[in-house]
Amino acid sequence: MATPQILMCLTTSASSIIPLLSQLPKQTRIEEYDIYQWEGFWYLPAHLEGALAIRSHFEAQDDDVIIISPPKAGTTWLKALIPTILNGPRGCKNIDDQEDDPLVKITPQLVVLTLEDQIFSVKNDRNPDLSTIPSPRIFHTHLPYTSLPNSIKNSKCKIVYISRNPKDVFVSLWHFMNYHRDDKQGLFPIEKAFDSFCNGVHFFGPYFDHVLEYWKKSLDSPSKILFLKYEEMKSDSKNELRKLALFLGRPFVEDEEVENVLWKCSFERLKNLEVNKNGIEPHSGLANSSFFRLGTVGDWKNSFTPEMEERINGIARLKFEGSGLDL
Ligand code: A3P
Repeated sequence: MATPQILMCLTTSASSIIPLLSQLPKQTRIEEYDIYQWEGFWYLPAHLEGALAIRSHFEAQDDDVIIISPPKAGTTWLKALIPTILNGPRGCKNIDDQEDDPLVKITPQLVVLTLEDQIFSVKNDRNPDLSTIPSPRIFHTHLPYTSLPNSIKNSKCKIVYISRNPKDVFVSLWHFMNYHRDDKQGLFPIEKAFDSFCNGVHFFGPYFDHVLEYWKKSLDSPSKILFLKYEEMKSDSKNELRKLALFLGRPFVEDEEVENVLWKCSFERLKNLEVNKNGIEPHSGLANSSFFRLGTVGDWKNSFTPEMEERINGIARLKFEGSGLDL
């Protein structure tokens, strides 16, 4: 089967990392493209190259905010929320005021750039000058804790991590991959995609190890890492948003401000903005709309068989046992 168009550039290796790739464990994911294991996690060649460049060149500053997420756990939401909390007009009373809101014109994927995809990417300079970006700088990465550069770990920069029920993550990822396939390619066979996910062989997987690393670190250093859960953000949005703003050093004063930020960054509003309905993210060529699907909790029930549920629950029990994390 042909490699989906969108994966072409991510799966093509630059000559500089071919020697490294040849030494790494490799698997062919879903019979379509190769994925490599580095420091315990799985990468597409372009992401691995980005990770290496970040490791060599990225210097975190003390007032940086780094959003970290496994793919499909709620990155887009945080890419909207955090700049709105940090840079948005405070005390804004007019919920319909769109004038000062960059989200009206710019998709969240471009409001906060992903280090390995959009900054240290194949197409860009491997050592870009980021020092001129006004602070507080906000970046995003999918990198596991193990592979973060020391400057992120050791500086005073803050990390906001988001996790999500792995069943919804898997279903979201599966739909995302399908979104970029044409009729001829058809859907990814869900059984194979699921098997890969359960074996941890997916971008930045294993999912459970990714989450567990950040969970443990957040318990050790709660002022450095805020660990959020997508489900709690949905069910207890106001309190979670207050917690996030407090962590970022920008606590809300009025309830109206909380409501305003929540509305500005809501799935319903963002999905229906022109930029997100019809725009294209220039680094990847992905449609902005592909980042806004359902935005709900529990959609996995529409795709999972009882066997799939049992298998993933079993992995979660095994991995999360004694950690304080559950599904
Ligand atoms: P679904 O596919 O379940 O709908 P990421 O941003 O990490 O790629 O995750 C994408 C998931 O977050 C998708 O989930 C998407 O619909 C959802 N999402 C995007 N924007 C959101 C928002 N503002 N609020 C809640 N969920 C959002």
